[in-house]
Amino acid sequence: MSSDSWEEAKELVKARADIVDIIREHVDLKRSGFRYLGLCPFHHEKTPSFTVHPDQQFYHCFGCKASGDVFSFMMEFHHLDFPESLKVLAQRYQVELPEKSRSPRQREQDERRKQMYALNDKAADLYHCYLLEDRGAEAARRYLQRRNIPESVQQRYRLGYAPAVQRGGWNFLSAQLSEAERQLAVELGLQVVREKSSGYDRFRDRIMCPIYDSRGRVCGFGGRILGDGEPKYLNSPESPIYSKSRLLFGLYQQREAIRKQRRAVLVEGNFDLLALVARGFELGVAPLGTALTREQLRLLKPLADEIVLLFDGDQAGLKAAERSVPLFLAEQLSGLVALLPPPHDPDTFVTQFGIEPLAELIERAGPLPEFALAQLVDRYGETLDGKFKIIEELRSLVAAAPSPVQRDAMAKHFGDRLNFDPERLLAEVIPADSRSSAEARAGRSNVPLRKADLTGALKFIITFMVRHPRYFSRLLEHRVDDVLAGTVGETICIQLKALHEQGRDSIEPEELFSELPRGEERALVASLLTEASDSSPMLRDDPVQQLEDILNWLDRERMKKRSEILMRGIKAAEMSGDFAKLNELMQEKMEVDKDLKQVGIGGLRL
Ligand code: CTP
Ligand code: MN
Repeated sequence: MSSDSWEEAKELVKARADIVDIIREHVDLKRSGFRYLGLCPFHHEKTPSFTVHPDQQFYHCFGCKASGDVFSFMMEFHHLDFPESLKVLAQRYQVELPEKSRSPRQREQDERRKQMYALNDKAADLYHCYLLEDRGAEAARRYLQRRNIPESVQQRYRLGYAPAVQRGGWNFLSAQLSEAERQLAVELGLQVVREKSSGYDRFRDRIMCPIYDSRGRVCGFGGRILGDGEPKYLNSPESPIYSKSRLLFGLYQQREAIRKQRRAVLVEGNFDLLALVARGFELGVAPLGTALTREQLRLLKPLADEIVLLFDGDQAGLKAAERSVPLFLAEQLSGLVALLPPPHDPDTFVTQFGIEPLAELIERAGPLPEFALAQLVDRYGETLDGKFKIIEELRSLVAAAPSPVQRDAMAKHFGDRLNFDPERLLAEVIPADSRSSAEARAGRSNVPLRKADLTGALKFIITFMVRHPRYFSRLLEHRVDDVLAGTVGETICIQLKALHEQGRDSIEPEELFSELPRGEERALVASLLTEASDSSPMLRDDPVQQLEDILNWLDRERMKKRSEILMRGIKAAEMSGDFAKLNELMQEKMEVDKDLKQVGIGGLRL
């Protein structure tokens, strides 16, 4: 059957596909009343909490909260994006898909990228076969043997060898490429062209590590010299298909193991990773010689709840761990740190002591924020002056946390540890991406914000409300009053509501001020209104944009709350065996979660 639109194709597939059939291929399902039950494929568990509902055609796990329909199952389980999972299912259920409408330019680009992947694949094969079979790769094989990388790992990682001189030239690869391929090879950094020369191989006399994306396509290469020499690594340059900050070495090969354990271990070097894999340790990945990035964390996020940083215990390792704290907080991922005793790296450590002691070290890894604090205390000491410096640095850590709850928790945590008022961390914290810490300090208000629940986002909203009361009705439509209930902003909200109900739609900030009762709220408003304009991005920036950001944030918070409430209801219904209710709640939760995804994850940018 053919369909005119993707929407229609999706509906057809949905009508024909049976979620039980599809999931059964991967999960052992047992019928249990109105639903099926099995071990969840998305997290590690011993007793089944994964349910599949044939009537409503969805699944839900009570353990890890994974839930969705046939499409989300395909996406999650097989790591596909939506169009891909639709394609697979459409083929299986004989639904014809409409021609994708791409611009000619787009089509050309897609085609080009496809050719690039194919070329990298071909190069990887050539290097790999050469390593395994050619007499010219004798030294390379010996080198890998010396580093205890067995052939099984060489094959699994498709390691290769790019030979040095071939037939008197640097053209092992280029000699095996067509003219068209050679042009692409230049763009991919496999070939170098200099003026007047016809081009030569970039990678020579190096062990080649193909870098895969999470779908198994070869995006680029890291080439290590045999033994000592400079540079140790030669890497593919950035290209339309290779971006070192968005890829992780080993992710493709290790992802199933990582997903099963919900845990990943980040090591620094390609060879560190290979050394771990060679000893049967399956949870490692390595960034490509750059500091860890948010994009890399995001690659791991769907697979793991915990990421252990396994770093060298030297100064560089300590610094690297510290610098990654805000990334973890921003992605709401739990980070742990395990430090190796100097001068070891994971490779030398397992070579000397074996894998067991390393596994123990990883087991004992401590939480990253704690670690960062300990570092600061080490560096500055606990004198009064030292404490001030520590507070300054912690402030930027707290500011990086994405949610008010988390900022609160961190402030309290650090405050308790160092014995100072958590407000010192929160009062000035605005979760700023666009604002430097110097600006944040200059923008400090004179009046302490006493109530403990006034955190970054709330302060931002209250400041906006006070500065731009004319937009209050919009905020009200998005239930700003619910969010501010129980905070110092509540009174301000009530006052604005009163003015609003008097039909005053162009309220001036000063009016609000004079209407407020004396006390904390009034003092707060005064301080917000009198902040020097050049120190406050609130006055400089476009209020309409700020309004949009706030409305978005409010919507998202509301949906998150709704989703949590539904989850509680679902649990209760499950316990009491009220299946009609359960179905109803699950459906609603799926809707809410879908909407949430659409609203996106962007933070309140201040
Ligand atoms: N790296 C790089 N260029 C260099 C040195 C390192 O791109 N000149 C990157 C590589 O991705 C390397 C990582 O940084 O894997 C970490 O460096 P290092 O620990 O020196 O690499 P290992 O792969 O562990 O190398 P070795 O063979 O020395 O164990
Ligand atoms: Mn190493």
